[in-house]
Amino acid sequence: MDIQKILERHSPEPDNMLNILHDLQDANLQNYLPEESLRQVARYLNTTLSAVYGVVNYYTMFSTKPRGKYIIRLCQSPVCHLMGSETVLESVKKLLGVELDEPAADGLFSLELSECLGICDVAPAMMIGEDIYGHLSEANISKIISEIREKEMSANSSK
Ligand code: FES
Repeated sequence: MDIQKILERHSPEPDNMLNILHDLQDANLQNYLPEESLRQVARYLNTTLSAVYGVVNYYTMFSTKPRGKYIIRLCQSPVCHLMGSETVLESVKKLLGVELDEPAADGLFSLELSECLGICDVAPAMMIGEDIYGHLSEANISKIISEIREKEMSANSSK
């Protein structure tokens, strides 16, 4: 990943910090923002490293720790909680063999909790990347995860 090229997609103005951080995180294979990237952002925007960390730490979509390629964001807000999100959480942990906020051994998934995703009518719900899934149960979660694994395997075998 060429950090400088990503920085130069944006003019060096403080208002561009969020877009720059998004682009850098998206380009990182482990889906996070290493300190060296943040140092370069600070230099490019002529600000301090602590100002950059302030933004990164404020938004939950940014991470300073390596994560899986696919981030599973499981809603923990009241409606999903009432509809069984705790059971769903345990199912996902078991299926992936992970704890919250830790990448799976294969580097493919990370599991995080999220506030309301705005789709309470299909609770319990989760997001994986930009995709939204509702009416979750142990059976359909297993199917969703298997489909992603198969997609990755066929993408890797065609390389
Ligand atoms: S409470 Fe879970 S999507 Fe709204």
